[in-house]
Amino acid sequence: MTVSDLTAAVTTPVRRARTRHFVMTAPHHFAVEYAINPWMDPSVPVDVNHALRQWEALRDTYTQLGHTVEAVDPVAGLPDMVYAANGGLIVNDRAVVANFTFAQRAAEADAYAAWMAAAGHRPERTHHHNEGQGDLLVAGSTVLAGYGFRTDRRAHDEVAAITGLPVISLELIDPRFYHLDTALTVLSDGAEDGEVTLAYYPPAFSETALTQLRALFPTAIEVATADAFVLGLNAVSDGRHVILPVNATGFAEQLREAGFEPIGVDLSELLKGGGSIKCCTLEVHP
Ligand code: ARG
Repeated sequence: MTVSDLTAAVTTPVRRARTRHFVMTAPHHFAVEYAINPWMDPSVPVDVNHALRQWEALRDTYTQLGHTVEAVDPVAGLPDMVYAANGGLIVNDRAVVANFTFAQRAAEADAYAAWMAAAGHRPERTHHHNEGQGDLLVAGSTVLAGYGFRTDRRAHDEVAAITGLPVISLELIDPRFYHLDTALTVLSDGAEDGEVTLAYYPPAFSETALTQLRALFPTAIEVATADAFVLGLNAVSDGRHVILPVNATGFAEQLREAGFEPIGVDLSELLKGGGSIKCCTLEVHP
């Protein structure tokens, strides 16, 4: 061992996994029929069977790590329903159901509300648009909330009132990073060691948001453009294992250095809709 190996061994925190409860919706009806974000091009063909196989590999990765995956029934005619993260936010025994910005996705809210009700969560609606965990990420005992493209900033107050948790509003400024979960990942939520660890892509945020992030999370990992542009930040962490888009190799290396175990998964087919791993995964927080 060299001195720098020893220093790394002493300073790198031990990362502990916590068993998670995820909700996913299979892409049986996936398609790119409209363009509501810059990643979507309806002229590019989509292979539904390939999307399904890739999605199953993600689901199996979660179950092999010991996590619970609950399935929501996909609905024909709702091609974006595979992006289950957008269905709502479940935390602190409260459930907020999405209120989608675009008409093409509006009916997904009823499907997710029906699932929540059947699963014993009482879904509550917001007056203003909110796109669930696309923009509302639980970080320890606070909610980090994106706005600028989809979720209305005024919905942040509604979410705070419903969940009883403080909400930190962060403005997004680059249309390619239209949901908070395309620009920021919560790696460790503090449940184990009391410290929230994040990764984010600075250019996606307004100056004010960056000032807030740097003040609140001075040790966060800042991710490079190459990784952000393969939606590398659209990742899911259990506190130790970080399931991320396989092409985000630079971010994977940063994760390893920070004591996490990156696991690359290929969701190339679902990237055509502008989403990746986190988009396909709604976490039911305790
Ligand atoms: N096509 C979907 C949309 O534009 C993709 C949603 C991705 N989901 C996410 N959590 N970022 O609404």
